[in-house]
Amino acid sequence: MTRGSHATGTALGIHAALPEGHVILTDRGSMLFLNETAAAIFQMLADGVVGQEAVQEICEQYDIGHDVALRDLEITYASFRTLGLIEHNGDPAEALALPMESKTDPRKEVKKYCSEHSLPLQAFIEITTVCNLRCKHCYIPDVGAIGPLKDPLNISELRDLLKQLRELSCLEVTLTGGEPLMARHLIETCAYARQLGFSVILKTNATLLTEAFVAELRRLHVTEVQVSLYSMDAATHDVFVRQPGSHARTVAGLRLCHALGQRCRISCVVTRSNYQQLDGLKEFATSIDAPIGFDLLVTRRLDGTDDPLIERLTEDDLIWLDQKGVMSDVIFEGSTNIAGLGDQNQLLVSYPIDDPESPICGAANTMVAINVNGDVRPCIAFPYRLGNIREQPLREILSDRNEPTRQIRSYRNRSFTECVGCELIPACPRCMATTYQETGNPVGKADAICRIAQYHRKYGGPPSTLEADGGGTV
Ligand SMILES: C[S@@+](CC[C@H](N)C(=O)[O-])C[C@H]1O[C@@H](n2cnc3c(N)ncnc32)[C@H](O)[C@@H]1O
Ligand code: SF4
Ligand code: SF4
Repeated sequence: MTRGSHATGTALGIHAALPEGHVILTDRGSMLFLNETAAAIFQMLADGVVGQEAVQEICEQYDIGHDVALRDLEITYASFRTLGLIEHNGDPAEALALPMESKTDPRKEVKKYCSEHSLPLQAFIEITTVCNLRCKHCYIPDVGAIGPLKDPLNISELRDLLKQLRELSCLEVTLTGGEPLMARHLIETCAYARQLGFSVILKTNATLLTEAFVAELRRLHVTEVQVSLYSMDAATHDVFVRQPGSHARTVAGLRLCHALGQRCRISCVVTRSNYQQLDGLKEFATSIDAPIGFDLLVTRRLDGTDDPLIERLTEDDLIWLDQKGVMSDVIFEGSTNIAGLGDQNQLLVSYPIDDPESPICGAANTMVAINVNGDVRPCIAFPYRLGNIREQPLREILSDRNEPTRQIRSYRNRSFTECVGCELIPACPRCMATTYQETGNPVGKADAICRIAQYHRKYGGPPSTLEADGGGTV
């Protein structure tokens, strides 16, 4: 019965046990729900308990006879096979059968549950601030200063952090930097995160990707590699990242991912350097089967200094993009607001902007960021310290008893008092992180956002409900 059946490598695991059901994220990034019985059977399979041993365990656990247990197991395995949760063993895939629940939209339910219970569904870990490039817009303070960081989290602290996130029901970890490939512990961190069952996303400039490294990411079933690419004009890209030859290496890195079957995505911040040189990016993305996201807003450095702002689009640049017919593409294809976050649409929880009582976003609620020294922030681009994991357990930092966390969570749409009466509200891509950086107040009024909001209204605007996209159903 079980010959040849085994859970597909490290790709799968029970990620979270929520009252609504047990969640599995596959390496394809889709989300499946199992009810308790199916989850227990899947876990046994993943643990290598198969054959008569599995039948025996089912008999004892559910107090049923041998034949019934055997039949239930066979039906369940067939369902797992149909769904690609276990490898096919040559048997014809049988019809999808029970004892699993049918949910039409599991992702939505998970998002809702995590939102209502303030569980960090998504975590962003800044694994290093060292980088081999010097992008003109980079928000990392002193990114140019390659050298030993003062006191970055070491591998045992990273492992402990992942364990804490796991206990808090986190499902997705994004590893970012700096350039993560410059971090000594990157593969070990990825591997441990996968071992704990997280869906792992890697943000990188892709210049250091090698065939062996991508093969390792594939082996670990990393969900997605997000690559920053600023133009298909090599000179434009290279001048912007201040490193000759980078464009060729980044493009080669993306092609390598494609060739080895590693899912990837292109992220492009639109800046003064590249806004007239966006031609060909979408075509290239299509040629390697990668989605592409654009971001129209360059933020300040996280230390509050202004250097990146020389790259922020001016009013005239935005008009140029609009008149040349590029703006609609940028908005429809692209992310909307904060640095480096726009691509997290798998599990990103978005809230209705036109409901005054709704939270604004998942910051410090369904989302958390941990910087290289262990400081905890509401999201990656939000330079607001909630605590430090070297001083306190993450659970305490993310508790309502922690005043900075309580404060950020307390904001609602109505807290944006300066926006009252604004006709752009339904389309505004406002964000607390950027607003805080611009005005010193998370719920102030940032002109940089207002400038972009009018184009969102013209071309469609940001997602406006607690939506869920994709996701499978069991
Ligand atoms: C800080 S980088 C780290 C990962 C990797 N080094 C890379 O470049 O993809 C993450 C993302 O943030 C974006 N980014 C950096 N500085 C930014 C800024 N000031 N405003 C908006 N996005 C920014 C980058 O373009 C990149 O897509
Ligand atoms: S944006 Fe990424 S690649 Fe560019 S300097 Fe910053 S960390 Fe490095
Ligand atoms: S456009 Fe400006 S004023 Fe209007 S809602 Fe957005 S941030 Fe507020």
